[in-house]
Amino acid sequence: MQKALIVYGTKTGTAAVTAQEIAQALQNKGVETKVVDAKKEKIRSITEYDLIIVGSGIQIGCWNSEPENFIKKYKQELAKKNLALYVNCGSAAEKLNPDKPEIAANAKTKYLDEKAAKYNLKPVALGFFGAIYNFNTMSWIMRKGMENERSKLAANYKETAPGVYDTRDIDAIQKWAEELGTKI
Ligand SMILES: Cc1cc2nc3c(=O)[nH]c(=O)nc-3n(C[C@H](O)[C@H](O)[C@H](O)COP(=O)(O)O)c2cc1C
Repeated sequence: MQKALIVYGTKTGTAAVTAQEIAQALQNKGVETKVVDAKKEKIRSITEYDLIIVGSGIQIGCWNSEPENFIKKYKQELAKKNLALYVNCGSAAEKLNPDKPEIAANAKTKYLDEKAAKYNLKPVALGFFGAIYNFNTMSWIMRKGMENERSKLAANYKETAPGVYDTRDIDAIQKWAEELGTKI
């Protein structure tokens, strides 16, 4: 049986939910998948895995430090593995900026292509996914910034629970993961 490892970092939970969805899709394709929150668990070895997926939420233009440190630590080995990277970020919610497609395009380049290039890695797939905004739990500063966007969020994205808006395309995430499963 093929084995996959998903290592993620998150601040508000989106990359964690996404990791679980990716894992489910891979498991449905018969790939044994382990999911690790890089902040909570140290990875001692990656040799046993046929596919490694590293994901992060984005804050102020940056990956979370834990998944990036994982890449840094294992970059030599990752260069020889099937590797995929994904991010969850606000810039991927294209319906919030319908007249400015360059926001998403530039973010994808910065958060994914440039990250891979920084560590001389050639991932088999790059996943550029949206955010889950939870107005019940977000910090006051985030709420201040997002309150103006709330009507646009409500008009364009699903309110999955009161005050929770999911800008991710879950079908696209599932499809991305299933395709990955065929590459190993
Ligand atoms: C303090 C803060 C800064 C953020 N900065 C960015 C940013 O620079 N670019 C972006 O696309 N999204 C940004 N976002 C949106 C997050 O990327 C989005 O909420 C994402 O889902 C976070 O992933 P996580 O829940 O896994 O941490 C920011 C969010 C917060 C709270």
